[in-house]
Amino acid sequence: MTGRTRSEVWDRHAPRYDARTAWLERRLLSHGRTWVGARATGATLEVGVGTGANLAHYGPDVDLTAIDPSARMLEETRRKLSEAGPASRSDRASSPGPELSLVRPVRLLAADVGDLPFEDGSFDSVVATYVLCCVPDVPLALAQIARVLRPGGQLLLADHVRSTAWPLRLGQRLLDVATVPLQGEHFSRRPRTLLAAAGLEVTDSHRRAAGVLEMVRAVTPEGMG
Ligand SMILES: C[S@@+](CC[C@H](N)C(=O)[O-])C[C@H]1O[C@@H](n2cnc3c(N)ncnc32)[C@H](O)[C@@H]1O
Repeated sequence: MTGRTRSEVWDRHAPRYDARTAWLERRLLSHGRTWVGARATGATLEVGVGTGANLAHYGPDVDLTAIDPSARMLEETRRKLSEAGPASRSDRASSPGPELSLVRPVRLLAADVGDLPFEDGSFDSVVATYVLCCVPDVPLALAQIARVLRPGGQLLLADHVRSTAWPLRLGQRLLDVATVPLQGEHFSRRPRTLLAAAGLEVTDSHRRAAGVLEMVRAVTPEGMG
């Protein structure tokens, strides 16, 4: 499957993505969003932003740039931002509420995590939720992420990974047989095992739901960059 075809797959999913994942979102995915959102700080890059499901979870002082190769996914994020209202900090202060945390300036760009259009050391934090399961080359993505992080910067990951329970692992391998060729989505990956090779050191991690969901914080060495 070529990069172009993959974008087309996500373009097709975009208009109905939130509705189709609503149940999973409540049962499984939202934990990862709360976890990464509570830890992101400073100049933050979100890779594979999708429909913008993490936006409401970031704190007010996060300066957010977000990328995705799918134009339709970016459109969904833009729509959410415009429905949330003008990007004004005073609005947020006068009307507190979870939806208003969406009211933030966000730089949105069409880009691929395998070829990030940013200078080395540009970000304090990089966030990737449910994205490394569907990129073609995880080591390349991690190398690019490590490159754009400043020394001592943090990568915050949440993803579905191969389970700790063998019957589930078996089911995930069977799923891969269909989902990898159809939409480039992998259920048997575990990106945490590739972080050290990218020069990233794990400082915090945990798993849930028979190990199917994994949250990881990893940092670049202070001397790197
Ligand atoms: C399963 S969705 C997750 C979206 C979002 N991160 C979330 O947590 O809801 C996967 C997203 O990754 C994006 N994606 C796929 N390949 C990518 C790549 N090579 N670089 C960056 N994003 C990619 C897709 O366009 C899609 O928006």
